[in-house]
Parts: sequence; structure tokens; C-alpha cells
Amino acid sequence: MAEKFKAPRGTFDVLPGTMPQRERLIRTAGDIFSRAGYGWAATPVFEDTALFERGVGKSTDIVRKEMFTFEDKGGRSLTLRPEGTAPICRAYVEHGMHKLAQPVKLAYSGPFFRHERPQAGRYRQFHQIGAEAIGSDSPLADAEVITLFSDLIEELGVPAVELRLGSLGSLDARREYLEELKSHLRSREAELSDDVRERIELNPLRAFDSDHEGTKAVMTDAPQLLDHLDTADAEHFAEVRELLSTASVEYTIDPTLVRGLDYYTRTIFSFVCDRLGAQSEIGGGGRYDGLIAQLGGPETPAIGWAAGIERILLALDEEVAAPGRDLFIAVAGDGQRAKAVALVAELRRAGISVEIDLAGRSIKGQLKHAERIKAAHTLVFGEDDSSRLRTRGESEDRQIQPSEVLEAISR
Ligand code: HAM
Repeated sequence: MAEKFKAPRGTFDVLPGTMPQRERLIRTAGDIFSRAGYGWAATPVFEDTALFERGVGKSTDIVRKEMFTFEDKGGRSLTLRPEGTAPICRAYVEHGMHKLAQPVKLAYSGPFFRHERPQAGRYRQFHQIGAEAIGSDSPLADAEVITLFSDLIEELGVPAVELRLGSLGSLDARREYLEELKSHLRSREAELSDDVRERIELNPLRAFDSDHEGTKAVMTDAPQLLDHLDTADAEHFAEVRELLSTASVEYTIDPTLVRGLDYYTRTIFSFVCDRLGAQSEIGGGGRYDGLIAQLGGPETPAIGWAAGIERILLALDEEVAAPGRDLFIAVAGDGQRAKAVALVAELRRAGISVEIDLAGRSIKGQLKHAERIKAAHTLVFGEDDSSRLRTRGESEDRQIQPSEVLEAISR
């Protein structure tokens, strides 16, 4: 026998049994986005490798270890997108969207790719849903995008979610703090993990994210960024907090919050669900006021987030039943088949969900199948032009002309 294939490591198939949950999530998010004036955008699943190197940052785990990078036939280096913000900003610059009314508010959803070690909630191909508000530095924009996420969690009914909030300050203001943090790390270098030690110069903030015991001990008395914000950054952060309270969004301040991408400035946030195991972050984001300029566009402040669709679904752990059909048409004899086929086509065009047997079942088998697909009505086409309509929950069948079915079941 020929060898069978399996989906590649870290990937999975989504089959009709679990698609309704995904559809509900996307629909719910789509409603929330459109009520707030965010329009859907879609960018390619692969981009120039340099976009992520420059956008996400060369010292990040994503760029160092996790990208699916390949050369195309023209010798260009391309990468399957590990995240969506750099591509959205690339599109903003490429299409001159700074000329539109600001901020430009975009939403997206689709597959993303990271070569990580697979485990529950962590895959090599996963799906994100996200929103970006590009072209406003107002704390109003921060509060708006965070509220969208919070409303999504609320409307979906995701349990036990906590919002953690922090601020990284602006790039200039952060410089002085980073020197202080680096000298703290250098002074206790021997206790740090190799990974953190190697990145003291390049990315000292990542030390806050380490689960290495020695590093954690060093970080307990490390200087904290929130104590070092300059006046403008501190005011911005205070306004964001106030606006979130005004919008009844609960949060906790996390002075050690950092994120795995280099572009963040000022507000950062993370939504965590304690029902999930090690991969407990269902989504997060923050401001990235320098990214558009870094990608060749004009100085443009922006903020956004992305949520992991699989993580939200894991946290929800719910069954969403596929909707049943309006009608099943059972055909007793070959003589009626053409008429039944014509009726099916007509009814489907009229918006009725209707199925007919495609597997050569006996009439008894067809009636059983109608039950299986939860048909609200079953029309039994008789040999002699007589038909019966059976309605779920009613004990008596009705004699009916096939031409009357549409009216009968629309009532
Ligand atoms: P991120 O934190 O790298 O941010 O990813 C966002 C979310 O995607 C995570 O919180 C997690 O739920 C999900 N996720 C990430 N990696 C995986 C994986 N391997 N398997 C399953 N789920 C995963 C970003 O991607 C930023 N672009 C967010 C953003 C938008 N910041 C500003 N705007």
C-alpha cells in the first residue's frame, strides 16, 4: 500500500465539526470591528525577509529562530509571515495611506507561521485576528483598540481573562533606562541564562520574560521601566488608564511586562487566560510609534493587537452545533428523481438549505439520513406524484404538492 501522508508537524486540519466555532469568532470580531469603523485588510502570506528583520527586529526569537524563510526561483529571500503588523505597515506605506484621513483603522485575520516547538496552544501554522489603528498618538486610540479586544473576549464569553498593562516609554526616553538595566544585568552576569547574557547589549528587556531561575532572581531587584518614564510618556500612560476605566475595562498594571517584538513603544498589553497552560496569552499588542518610519514611511504613530484564534478556541472549549438543514427531499422511485433535482435547485436558489440523497440509499436509509442532518422538514416524493411533508416534532405527515413546499416550510 502507498505510504499515507500526515499534516506537517505543528500544523492541523480544521474540519467541519470545529469550523462553526471559528466562524462565530470571526463573525463576532467582524461585528465589533465594523461598529468601530475598522475595515478588513488582507496582505500576502509571504513577504520580503528583510521586512521582518527590520520590522520585528533581528534580536528577537522570531527573527533569530522561528521564521520559515526560503529563496524563490529569482533568488529573492522570502519569509512566511510570522506576524501581521509589519505587513500591514508595509501596505500602509506602499499605498500612501498617510494621505487618507487618520487614523487608518484596519482589521485582519489569517494564517501565520513560526517554527516553534509545538505544544498545546503553540503551532507552526496558527491563526490570528488583529486590529491596527495607524496615524494617531492619542491615548484615545490606545483605549479604543484595547476596548475592542476586551469586548471581543466579553462577547465570545471567554472565561478567566486578565488584561495586563504596561508602558515601555518612547524610544528616546527609554535609552537612559536601558543603560541602567544593562549595568544591572552585567553586574550579575554569571547568574543569567546563556540566552539572556548573549543579548544584554541587543535586547536587555527580554530578561524580564525569562523563565530561567537564575535570571528570574536577578530580575526581582532590577530597575523597572515604569519608574523611569519621562513626563510625556507617564502622562500618556495615565490617560490610557483613565480612559480604560471610563470604558469599564478592567486591567492590572504589570511593571515587568515586555513583548517578543522590537517595535513597541509606550503602551503594551497582554490578555492572559488562566484556564490555559503554559501558552496562556490569548493575545496582546501595543504602540509602535517608530515602525512606519523604520519601514521607509513618514513618522506615524500607531497601535494595535493580535489574538491567537486557536488559543481563544481552547479557552472557550465549546461545542457550536452546525445548523441543521431546512429540508431533506427523499425520493422513493427513480421516476421522480429528475423532478426532485429540479425542485432542489429551485429551493436552494430561493435561499432554502436543502439536501437530497447522493449515496443511493433506500427510502428508509434516506429518512434516517434526514434525521442525522437535523432536517427541519422532509419531503417524501412518492412513486405516483403524491408527496408527503414530514415536519420535526409533528406526529402527522401532510399530503402536499411539491410546488407548495416552499410556501409550506417558509411559514
Ligand atoms: P504576538 O504576541 O507575537 O504579537 O502574537 C499575538 C498572539 O498570537 C499571541 O498572543 C498568541 O495568542 C498567538 N500566537 C503567537 N504565536 C503562536 C503560535 N506559535 N501558536 C499559536 N498561537 C500563537 C504579534 O504578532 C503582534 N503582531 C501583535 C500586534 C499587533 N502588536 C501590534 N499590533
